[in-house]
Amino acid sequence: MRFEIRPYDEADESAVVALWSEVFAYTAPHNQPLNLVRQKRAYEQALFFVALDDRRLVGTVMGGYDGHRGWIYSLAVDPSARGQGIGAELMRRIERQLAELGCRKINLQVLAANSATVDFYRKLGYAVEERVSMGKLLVPPPPEPRDASRP
Ligand SMILES: CC(C)(COP(=O)(O)OP(=O)(O)OC[C@H]1O[C@@H](n2cnc3c(N)ncnc32)[C@H](O)[C@@H]1OP(=O)(O)O)[C@@H](O)C(=O)NCCC(=O)NCCS
Repeated sequence: MRFEIRPYDEADESAVVALWSEVFAYTAPHNQPLNLVRQKRAYEQALFFVALDDRRLVGTVMGGYDGHRGWIYSLAVDPSARGQGIGAELMRRIERQLAELGCRKINLQVLAANSATVDFYRKLGYAVEERVSMGKLLVPPPPEPRDASRP
């Protein structure tokens, strides 16, 4: 295995922000990668791993655990490094960490449009379950971006 999986380190911050900016292309201000990294680190530190290929950061994964269920999110592999087993190895690492914490079941969400990633997760033993995903904002929604073409 040429690449290395290790816990996130503060020195990885700018490389993670660059990776997520490319892979996830979030637009909402509350999803800005720098905020996401810092909020995660401020709240919980053990469930955040990066993949390095010859010291270049090429992948990330985060997890969450409430003492019962585990969650996995922010799995990303640099497009130039895909298809080499890095995503699968990141998943195995975060699964091991969650299992060590006592977690017995992992959940994750995939955007309905992201069917390719569903196939990836199926290969790793995940199954689509009959659930409805719901969400609610606890803060006011961000303002709509201004349409520059209108007065
Ligand atoms: C999904 C993602 C993490 C996969 O990373 P990767 O390093 O290319 O995956 P791997 O090389 O470890 O692939 C593991 C297995 O899944 C398969 N796989 C990977 N991507 C796949 C795809 N898009 N469609 C079908 N199978 C796929 C591989 O062929 C491999 O199968 P094998 O073991 O039979 O050879 C990567 O494509 C990515 O970052 N996507 C964009 C971000 C994303 O969607 N994240 C998940 C958010 S829910």
